Amino acid sequence: MSNSATPQLWSGRFNEPVSERVKRYTASIGFDYRLAEFDILGSLAHAKMLTQQAIISPQDLADIERGMSEILADIRAGKFEWLLDLEDVHLNIEKALTAKVGDAGKRLHTGRSRNDQVATDIRLYLRHNIDGILQLIRAAQTALLDLAEANAEVVMPGFTHLQVAQPVSFGHHLLAYFEMLKRDAERLADCRSRVNRLPLGAAALAGTSYPIDREMVARELGFDGVCENSLDAVSDRDFAIEFTACASLIMTHFSRMSEELILWMNPRFGFIDLADRFCTGSSIMPQKKNPDVPELIRGKTGRINGHLVGLLTLMKGQPLAYNKDNQEDKEPLFDTVDTLIDTLAIVAEMLPGIRVKPEAMRRAALQGYATATDLADYLVKKGLPFRDAHEAVALAVRHAEGKGCDLADLPLADLQQFSDLVAADIYDVLSLEGSMNSRNHIGGTAPAQVRAAIARGRATLGG
Ligand code: ARG
Repeated sequence: MSNSATPQLWSGRFNEPVSERVKRYTASIGFDYRLAEFDILGSLAHAKMLTQQAIISPQDLADIERGMSEILADIRAGKFEWLLDLEDVHLNIEKALTAKVGDAGKRLHTGRSRNDQVATDIRLYLRHNIDGILQLIRAAQTALLDLAEANAEVVMPGFTHLQVAQPVSFGHHLLAYFEMLKRDAERLADCRSRVNRLPLGAAALAGTSYPIDREMVARELGFDGVCENSLDAVSDRDFAIEFTACASLIMTHFSRMSEELILWMNPRFGFIDLADRFCTGSSIMPQKKNPDVPELIRGKTGRINGHLVGLLTLMKGQPLAYNKDNQEDKEPLFDTVDTLIDTLAIVAEMLPGIRVKPEAMRRAALQGYATATDLADYLVKKGLPFRDAHEAVALAVRHAEGKGCDLADLPLADLQQFSDLVAADIYDVLSLEGSMNSRNHIGGTAPAQVRAAIARGRATLGG
């Protein structure tokens, strides 16, 4: 960023220049240069509308379009010089335009304020990124479906309270995350509809006295409509907060998944191995292979939650309409978008590299009396009230524990001590597969249902 002695564009009514420290403190060019392409898009649509409404001339529009295309090329080539003295992306571009095309550049800001300009830029930026994020969510969902398909028949212990509860299909477990992402995508698509409204025309806060055509600008920029109150249009950042809330939930889901990957990679579980490229070693302990990527996903979730609280706090005390506080919306928003995009891309890459260890999962499921509920259900189906069945099975579990074996390892005579309803067919329900296969309804863990859910999932993703 260069610093020259250019006076501020608005400095006419001031008696002294701002200090260097104040200049740095109030400038946003250090981060809002990222809005440049959206700023130019917005300006071009505005200029087109001004021309159509005979507020500026066709020659002005031609000059503005030529100047902007040169500026855009310079920015893309990294040749554009951003000046701190020019405060923000809007004034930098406007000044460069005027340097190139003269008076037409000075006419561009007719009927507009930086207040409605910046609100438009952020909405365009966010809409663009929401569309990219939705694509990445689909990629992560596809990776989950693929992994679930390969593991529909693999039995693992399902947990409650992190204690072995009932056998589940590993594919079924993975599909739980697919569902979370499905809702995340729905939420984001819904958020997009509120992001996609045009603030331009609100001008500084009250609208403008020029005969503008806001609907035309909205159409030009692909907005679904205009913000219907000028004060609201320039001041509220609820759409950015809402997006960040969506991002927080997505990160929260991946944080939960990460916690599981970390646990499963611990040798005490040994359920999976992550590909080496997602892990790192230790500088002191030669034996270590650490799941750094999932740990960082879990860690970065805290950072996004922080941005959400930051943006809510930024908004909460602001009187209508625009206040400079809102300049602080950008860094948290940009960081949320960047972090989310990186996280989604890395998850989609990491999932196919997971090596599943079915024997370890099976061993763990066999150790926790995971089929005790199946024994109780068996007794209920033979006429015992559920509470009595629960009691009988609790005693059977205690007995097995005493013998240091699983329920399925107890001889028939032992099991019959707890209920005379027990017959030889009991061993069908005490097996892990028997238990899993019996939960054969929509939403259940039977592999047949898992495969059906995968087919439905693929259909929602469009093939
Ligand atoms: N850089 C400002 C922002 O990010 C642009 C709007 C400034 N408006 C103003 N009246 N100072 O919000």
